[in-house]
Amino acid sequence: MPCFCFNTVGSTNQIAKEFIADGKVTDRAVIVARTQSQGRGRYDRRFVSPKGGIYLSYVTRVPDGSDFVGIGLYSALAVVRTLLTLAGDNRCDISVKWPNDVNVNGKKIAGILPESVEKDGERYVVVGIGVNLNTKPEDLSALSGIATSLYATTKKRYDLKNATAMLCVALCDVEDMYFGKFVEELKGEYVACCSTVGKTVTYSTADGGKAVGKAVDIDGDGTLIVDVCGKTDRVVWGEIVENA
Ligand code: BTN
Repeated sequence: MPCFCFNTVGSTNQIAKEFIADGKVTDRAVIVARTQSQGRGRYDRRFVSPKGGIYLSYVTRVPDGSDFVGIGLYSALAVVRTLLTLAGDNRCDISVKWPNDVNVNGKKIAGILPESVEKDGERYVVVGIGVNLNTKPEDLSALSGIATSLYATTKKRYDLKNATAMLCVALCDVEDMYFGKFVEELKGEYVACCSTVGKTVTYSTADGGKAVGKAVDIDGDGTLIVDVCGKTDRVVWGEIVENA
C-alpha cells in the first residue's frame, strides 16, 4: 500500500482528498504526518496534533455496489486492536465510545474523522485517525482532563513508525472483513468493547431536541439502537453523552 509521509501538513484528510482529486491515489493508500497545523475533528472542531501522536488518513476505494457507511465506525476496532497490542500487560481499559472515539481508562486517546468523496464515478472513503501515542500530557492540557495519551497512561514510550505500521495493517484487516461480508463479526467485536451499549444516554434528535434512553445495541451499519421507554429509536450519527 503506498504510504505518503510528511513532517507537517495542514490536515492529512485534506491531503488525501487532494491526492484523490488529482488521481495521485486511486486505491488503498495512507497519508501520514508527524504533526498537523490544521487538524480537524468531527463537527469541524480543531484536533490538537502535537509531535508524538499518530496522524494518518487511510484511503480506500469502495468496491462497486458495496455499502461503506460502517467503515468509519469499525475503523475504531483497528485502533483498539493496535492499542491493546501496544499496551500489552499494562493495565489499560480500552473502549470505544459510540460512534468512534477510543478511550483509555475513560479518557479520549484517539478520534476518527471519516469522509467520503467521489472521483470519476468511483467512491472513496478517507478515514482520518489521530492517536495520542507518545503525546506529552502538557501538550494535551488544553483538553482539561478529557484526553490522554498511551505514554501518559503506561509511562512508556512507543516506536511511532512501528505503531503506525501496526495501525495500517489493522485498518486493512478491518476493511477486508467489512467488504468481505464479515460485518456480523465486526459488530460482535465492536459491541464487546463499546462503553455506550448498555448505558443510559442523552442524545440529540432530528428536530433539534434532546432525548434520553438506554443504548441497547448497534446494527450492522453502526446505527445506535436506543430504547426510550419501551419504544425503539435509531440514532444514525451524532454526539451522545453516556450517563452513569
Ligand atoms: C474527532 O475526534 O473528532 C476526530 C479526530 C480526527 C483527527 C484525525 S488526525 C488525522 C486526520 N486529519 C485530520 O485533520 N483529522 C484526522
